[in-house]
Amino acid sequence: MKRVLKIIIPIIIIIVLASLFYFFFLRKQLIKEVSIIKDEEKYYLKIDYPILYNSKIDKKIKSYVNSKKDEFMKIVNKTDKVTHKYELLIQTEVHKNKDILYITVLNNTYTGGAHYIKDYYNLYYDIKEDKLVDITHFFKDDNSFNKLYKLAHYYVLEYATANNKNFDEAWVRSGTEPKLENYDYFTFNNKGLNITFKPYQVASYADGEIKITIPYEELSDIIKDEYLSNNIEKKEEKLIPEIRDLSKYKDKKLLAFTFDDGPNTETTKILLDSLNKYDAKVTFFVLGNRINRHSEILKRAYLEGNQIGSHTYNHKNLKIISYESAEREINDTNNAIKSVIGVNPSIIRPPYGNVNPNINTNMPIILWNIDTLDWKYRDKNKVADKIVENARDGAIVLLHDIYKSSVEGALLAMERLKDEYYFVTIEEMAILKNKTLENDQKYFNIK
Ligand code: NI
Repeated sequence: MKRVLKIIIPIIIIIVLASLFYFFFLRKQLIKEVSIIKDEEKYYLKIDYPILYNSKIDKKIKSYVNSKKDEFMKIVNKTDKVTHKYELLIQTEVHKNKDILYITVLNNTYTGGAHYIKDYYNLYYDIKEDKLVDITHFFKDDNSFNKLYKLAHYYVLEYATANNKNFDEAWVRSGTEPKLENYDYFTFNNKGLNITFKPYQVASYADGEIKITIPYEELSDIIKDEYLSNNIEKKEEKLIPEIRDLSKYKDKKLLAFTFDDGPNTETTKILLDSLNKYDAKVTFFVLGNRINRHSEILKRAYLEGNQIGSHTYNHKNLKIISYESAEREINDTNNAIKSVIGVNPSIIRPPYGNVNPNINTNMPIILWNIDTLDWKYRDKNKVADKIVENARDGAIVLLHDIYKSSVEGALLAMERLKDEYYFVTIEEMAILKNKTLENDQKYFNIK
């Protein structure tokens, strides 16, 4: 009997642990999100990364983030005065495809000069085998790397031709050679293997990062069969958002609550769960780089009649970056939003409210006239007081739905203002005020 128990008990423990692992890691994938914003006189710092409760990954992400932060603060502390605020923007993108987690920690640093310095940190994690892998994990045999190199070399030169650029062939060759460091940023999409070459890797810094896609058809003797297609089928479903009858809103004062820097599954949900109580619709200015990880909550926000606007892809200061990067920041966000809700964003709020007069966003630019400073205080009562004290007809309130204190503060303010005000989206406010919003015009309020 004892012997049987000796066998059965460990088996039970293994089953319990395995199901806990399944529930917390495979199913939920990310459990907690760390978001840090600091807005000081000399610098702005915005760091986002998930805690996956996997020691193999979490430690690596954290130590990368900390080293970048230390480097940045050293430079800030050495500098007495800055013309444009120095910036450290760290974001993490995570997606799962066929038991592999693809994790990219993206770092954009601005410490003076003409442009941001971009840096990536990529991790590939095999969930089934519980280990970190690299591109060779996907290869069929020992010849695969050489074959991939030839294809990559060809596709980079193709890219140059297609974009009317002249790349130095020797440079391309050295940047695509079959070495691990040349292939540390890749993913599989619905067309094939997507490889990103960093600025300066295959062409000059000014050419930026070069992304190529090698179609699955060409990879059949290079990549293992199981990775040769993408089983994530894109459902082309038409989303029809809730539309409300605005006629009854004419007699009250209007207030537009706007939330930047999300979406954020946990905290955006708290807000959405309570909006009905106040017959409220709000506006979200979302960051492109967060959409993949928080797509369900974004879809829900849209379906429930809230408005979705762009806050660009990487939260960069549009005043500093080049025309090409700004265009990419805007287009990539449009595409990311469209891939989830089926339509482009209708309005934009550039980070810091900074607009570059040379760049057309082709959307109305929505700024604000009530700044809650919610990111600074992280106090729901202070947030609510600030809104209630400054509320006036046609006002636009600036908030961030990545903080629990901000969404709770917004709901407290709605509770206190609900008899006097209606809470509407920017679009609804424009309709009710009979105002047509013009592309690339700035709006601080709508009257
Ligand atoms: Ni922002």
